[in-house]
Amino acid sequence: MPDSTPLRRTLDNLRGVLRFAPLDADVVGRRLRRSASVADLRSIARRRVPRGVFDYVDGGAEDERSLRHNTEAFRSITFRPRVLRDVSSIDPSTTLLGRRLPVPLVLSPTGFTRILHSEGELAVARAAGRAGLPYALSTLGTRSIEEVAAAGDGPKWFQVYVWRDRGLVRDLIERARDAHYEAIVLTVDTAAFGKRERDVRRGFTLPPTVGPGTLLDGALHPTWTWDFVRADPIRFANVMGRDVGDGASPVSLHDYTNSQFDPSTTWTDLEWLRDVWAGPLVVKGIQTVADARIAATAGVQALMLSNHGGRQLDTAPAPIDLVAPVRDAIGDGVQIICDGGVRRGSDVVKAVARGADAAAIGRAYLYGLGAAGERGVDHVLGLLADEVRRTMALCGADTVAGITADLVSAPT
Ligand code: FNR
Repeated sequence: MPDSTPLRRTLDNLRGVLRFAPLDADVVGRRLRRSASVADLRSIARRRVPRGVFDYVDGGAEDERSLRHNTEAFRSITFRPRVLRDVSSIDPSTTLLGRRLPVPLVLSPTGFTRILHSEGELAVARAAGRAGLPYALSTLGTRSIEEVAAAGDGPKWFQVYVWRDRGLVRDLIERARDAHYEAIVLTVDTAAFGKRERDVRRGFTLPPTVGPGTLLDGALHPTWTWDFVRADPIRFANVMGRDVGDGASPVSLHDYTNSQFDPSTTWTDLEWLRDVWAGPLVVKGIQTVADARIAATAGVQALMLSNHGGRQLDTAPAPIDLVAPVRDAIGDGVQIICDGGVRRGSDVVKAVARGADAAAIGRAYLYGLGAAGERGVDHVLGLLADEVRRTMALCGADTVAGITADLVSAPT
């Protein structure tokens, strides 16, 4: 009776459970399908790009307390989920600066993005456009205002600093206006450049200088190196030709920006900016209730509560902890964007529950870019949007207006 032998039974059982997936030639697709979270993409990016590049993105200032605290502050907030509410249809859309967005999420400006992948800002702009989310191009971007404007049809914002050369800032804003950027973001947390000690220890310059250490790092990360050497040279594309340190030759970002930032900038410069730019204005880098009050009466449309992702003043407050007190202080007239430490869609929901109109991400999309280029950014934005929807369903909120303060633990 061969059918009943143990071997036969085992083979039959195995046949029942084994499924051979067809061989998939799409290596990047395979990589992304197995990436379940932003943290997974960070791990892949860490393996794929040289250590100096990864640390430039991943690192923060000094002891990195702000960097860690930004994410921990989100984790310490717990949900108070409501059940047996009808969540058969979830609508995470919202209105920010007069524009309807599919989820309350913004892509924050990050300088020197092409260091991760040659497509850099263009890849991010296209992915943001597909997701219908605003992308803020940095003054220190490595693709120009015009190039990014032509990439993707999503809303574009342009980020400026108040630099010593006000004429340059004015020119940049005029170019952004001509290229149909919808908002100007003024970053105000850079009176001096934060000391990112990982960069110091690695002797990291932008663009990287080639020495024995870089050569070894490059050899260990051949995909990144091949992409880097084939692409056109990385430059601060918006300020090229304007000054000695335009990114054409290797500089320490620290020296370059310190030479450009104007530490004498005050609130009156905001009035100057209001004269130059009549459209929506966002002030990025507000870190106290007192400054939020001043900004709210200074004719801006939105405040970005931000400590620059922990890259400037170490032990600055976590932006998520400021949302509720700032909302209480300024009321509903000015919109609030919570920027820093967002790694999950649930973080976006927590920010909204505390009173923000939207959350913003920097590293999250950069990890995606480093892990898998443009498709990696698509993947991150898809993961976060999906997590927002699922969190809303599990909390009993079917609309953004339904994400109320009682759904999360009270601020301490
Ligand atoms: C930044 N950030 C930043 N901000 C800004 O206003 N102008 C800039 O050029 C840059 N450049 C930049 C480069 C890199 C590599 C990072 C990681 C960040 C700060 C950024 O806009 C945002 O505030 C933080 O990234 C938010 O924190 P998370 O999301 O990275 O935790």
